[in-house]
Amino acid sequence: VVARLKGVSRGSLHLAVATTANYFITHLLAAFHREFPEVAINLSVTNRQALLKQLAENRIDMVVMGEPPAEQGLAGTAFMENPLVVIAAPGHPLSSRRRIPLKTIAKEPFVVREEGSGTRAAMTRFARRHQIAITPAMVMTSNEAIKQAVSAGLGLGLVSAHTLELDLYAERLQILDVAHFPITREWYVVNREGKRLSPAAQAFKQFLIDNADTVWPTATKAAGAITGASG
Ligand code: PGA
Repeated sequence: VVARLKGVSRGSLHLAVATTANYFITHLLAAFHREFPEVAINLSVTNRQALLKQLAENRIDMVVMGEPPAEQGLAGTAFMENPLVVIAAPGHPLSSRRRIPLKTIAKEPFVVREEGSGTRAAMTRFARRHQIAITPAMVMTSNEAIKQAVSAGLGLGLVSAHTLELDLYAERLQILDVAHFPITREWYVVNREGKRLSPAAQAFKQFLIDNADTVWPTATKAAGAITGASG
């Protein structure tokens, strides 16, 4: 940790993160807490739409989300990759295929996130760009629910690779090797433009930018696994 952060001995941090960021942010908070045990930490976990509302109402120091909308007076810094992948239950008929064409995927039922989710918005943009229709067979408001549903055989899912570490390890889910995937996105730490962050909040923001890749290397590992499968 850089020396200039060492002056932060107390204060509080009010942080809100996208449901998908929940998987890695707790590891970063634990590492931050070891450096600055007297900073009181408040974490709220919600979807993209709710995060934008919290920023608009100035209720929090900062949020961690996908790319912020350009027009809302927000300042965002990208700090880590966020690859989105297609998941299936192990033994799914498409499991052993390589470079599965998008039109094959489009025939499958999908368990998708709710409107208001950043993951859902990225999926919709991707489908439009590639001129395919992804059929939402079911809509669920949490990544955990989607993973359970996919694992139970309800369809395919589209989630951030960050959500998958344990499921891949336990062989409850697998990543399909689909053409044009992963969808590459990035995580941003975002606050209102011109907001004066407290020393504690400023310290956390810098800590996140400096340490995300070391504390949470899953994105890199997952991206490697995907490249390996398609190579
Ligand atoms: P969400 O997170 O799908 O939980 O909204 C991702 C994002 O904010 O882009």
